[in-house]
Amino acid sequence: MNILLTGGAGYIGSHTCVILLEQGYDVIVVDNLCNSQVTSLKRVEQITGKKILFYQEDLCNPAGVDEIFRQNSIDAVIHFAGLKSVAESVDQPLRYYQNNIDGTLVLCEVMQANGVKSLVFSSSATVYGNPESVPINENAPVGAFNPYGRSKLFIEKILTDLYFADKSWNISLLRYFNPVGAHPSGLIGEDPFGLPNNLMPYISQVAVGKIPELQIFGDDYETPDGTGVRDYIHVMDLAQGHLGALEKLASDPGLVTYNLGTGKGFSVLEMVAAFEKAAGKKIPYKIVGRRPGDIPTCYANPSFAEKELGWTARRGIDEMCADAWRWQSMNPKGYV
Ligand code: NAD
Ligand code: UFG
Repeated sequence: MNILLTGGAGYIGSHTCVILLEQGYDVIVVDNLCNSQVTSLKRVEQITGKKILFYQEDLCNPAGVDEIFRQNSIDAVIHFAGLKSVAESVDQPLRYYQNNIDGTLVLCEVMQANGVKSLVFSSSATVYGNPESVPINENAPVGAFNPYGRSKLFIEKILTDLYFADKSWNISLLRYFNPVGAHPSGLIGEDPFGLPNNLMPYISQVAVGKIPELQIFGDDYETPDGTGVRDYIHVMDLAQGHLGALEKLASDPGLVTYNLGTGKGFSVLEMVAAFEKAAGKKIPYKIVGRRPGDIPTCYANPSFAEKELGWTARRGIDEMCADAWRWQSMNPKGYV
């Protein structure tokens, strides 16, 4: 089976490539490399001993995307491509809406024109906004409060409308919680351009000496130690969830939403302690004010994905930190 991964050169996409190739799928990647490097795919080939067909193309270019579908017999699409920085989206809302929404519209139009109607979409726990209660079920109220989150929510609504207009589509909306870690080989991992926005790559870059200290955004939340609590999920577990979703699409499920998380929340200080243990070094940090828009606590109820997909996250925070550290210490400058 030929699976097209949009944004497949990125962090989650490259790890998903490994899982799919190891399962015997043929993988085609379309990526404009605006936030990734083609080296990630070379490394995936090194890990798996298999080839990836790569197209450097912008998803917002209908003719270019259509050409990929004409040249290949594509069975299903996993749609990772998108811009993902919350802060950047607040400064550049038009760019975020244009890239994320237009890219999805072009993809769906081209899929429809080529008779491909199986789609897995990278959504986010950000669509739950500040949850009323935890753990969060898939039917909890949604309401994102930044342009990035709203772009995910709008795309979910667009895909829902598409499905109700034509029920021959099969669509999986995957709401990821906080992906961290790396492939255990240390050959692929998260390689943010510029200063990291997210906690784990920030800690990793402090550990490797690129950044002097971590700033912890607030210790006065209503959480056990006052710092923010999140559901960190190992990227290999997350990648495995895509395999489950793809296999489910083949059995004609219609439109389904799944939380992909572990169901457990860890605080910033707990993550720092786990990373210190994995790396065998202290992570210097200071407590600063809250980051605007942050919520106190967020973790999933992942039981629907377990029931429907037979999928569960298996790796704990020690393995997440050990793998993140292996990647960062083997590649202190990322893919460069
Ligand atoms: P990433 O930036 O590493 O990967 C996204 C890829 O999409 C990049 O390789 C980028 O070059 C590509 N891309 C972006 N716009 C494109 C376009 N118009 N045409 C072609 N390629 C384009 O990000 P990631 O962490 O791997 O995230 C993958 C998806 O998962 C994104 O949609 C993101 O919003 C979503 N997500 C990520 C997280 C997270 O914390 N990493 C959490 C929830 C959801
Ligand atoms: N944090 C720090 N210092 C940092 C970075 C983060 O203290 O330098 C704290 C945050 O305040 C938060 C926790 O670490 O309490 C996690 O922050 P991240 O930025 O790693 O993750 P978020 O939960 O804020 O957001 C991430 C992605 C979103 C996505 C969401 C849910 O950035 O795009 O997970 O999937 F929507």
